[in-house]
Amino acid sequence: MHAIGVDIGGTKIAAGVVDPDGNVLRLVRHGTSSDDPAEIERAVVDAVQELRAEHEVGAVGVAAAGFVDAERSRVRFAPNIAWRDHALRDSLATHIDLPIVVENDANAAGWAEFRFGAGRDAEHMVLLTVGTGLGGAIVTGGSLLRGAFGAAGEVGHMQLVPDGQLCGCGHAGCWEQYASGRALVRDTKAALVTTPERADALLRLAGGDPEDVTGPHVTEAARAGDPLALELLEDLGAALGTGIADLAALLDPEVVVVGGGVADAGDLLLAPARRAFTEQLFARGFRPEPVIVTARLGNDAGVVGVADLARG
Ligand code: BGC
Ligand code: NA
Ligand code: ZN
Repeated sequence: MHAIGVDIGGTKIAAGVVDPDGNVLRLVRHGTSSDDPAEIERAVVDAVQELRAEHEVGAVGVAAAGFVDAERSRVRFAPNIAWRDHALRDSLATHIDLPIVVENDANAAGWAEFRFGAGRDAEHMVLLTVGTGLGGAIVTGGSLLRGAFGAAGEVGHMQLVPDGQLCGCGHAGCWEQYASGRALVRDTKAALVTTPERADALLRLAGGDPEDVTGPHVTEAARAGDPLALELLEDLGAALGTGIADLAALLDPEVVVVGGGVADAGDLLLAPARRAFTEQLFARGFRPEPVIVTARLGNDAGVVGVADLARG
C-alpha cells in the first residue's frame, strides 16, 4: 500500500505519497512558523488532504524534529519548535481518519537511508542530519534503536564543549551548537562582524546585511572559493568529525551517513569531518574504519522513511 510521509522541520513541512519501494509519487511543501503548533498542524492536515484527493493511501507517518515518546505518539520536547509534551498524534487524528505514526525526524531520515539509500548494504549504520538542529538515527543489527523511552539517537545533545554555547534544550556545549545549520549561521554572522576584511563575498550574497546571511549562502561562497566560507565549513566539519569518533566508540557502525541541508556542501563539509574523525578515532590502525558518506535521498529522506515506518 501507499503511505503519506510528512516531515515537520524547523521552518517548513514536506509531505509526500510514497510507494512500498520508497518512490515519492507526489510531494508538496509548505512554510510554517516554528512557534505555533496549531499552524503546523493545520499545514499537516491540509497537505494530507491535498495528497489523499489524488492517491489511495493506507497510513500517515509524521516525522517531527523532537523527542518522540516510545508509543510514537507524543512529542515530549523539541529544542527548535514550540512543542512541550504535545499530543501530536491525537491532535492530528481528530482531522485525519487513517492510522498515524509519529517518529523523530532523524530516525525517519535514517530509516530511509538504511532501506533505500546510502545505508542500503549496511547492517550497522548511523545517520546524522545536519539541519536547523543536529539529529541522529541509529540502526544496529538491521533495526532502528529507539531506547526505553523513544529518545535514543538524540546525539545532538551530547556535550562536545564544556561550558560552551547555550542550546535550545537548556544545556550548554551540546554538539548541535557546533554542528548544525543554526551553529553555522551564528558563527557566520559573528565572523562578518569581527572580520569585515574577509566578509565581502558573504555580505554580497546576503544583500549587504550580516543578519540576512543563511547556510546556503555559506555553501555557495565556499564553492566559489571564498576563504571565510571555507573556514566556517571546515570548523563545522571538524566538530562533526570529532563527535562521530565518539559515536564510533559507542556504536561501531560500518557507515555514517550525513544528511540535512548543510550536507549539501558535500566534501566541503565531509573532508574536514573525515580528517577530525580520523584524528580522534580510538585504536586507529588496529581496527576497520567506518566510512563517512553523504546521504543519498536528499531532502526527501524524512518523508520516505516515515511513510515506510507508518506502513509498518
Ligand atoms: C532535536 C532532534 C532532531 C534534530 C534534527 C535536534 O535539535 O533534538 O530531535 O532530530 O534536532 O531536527
Ligand atoms: Na533520532
Ligand atoms: Zn542541547
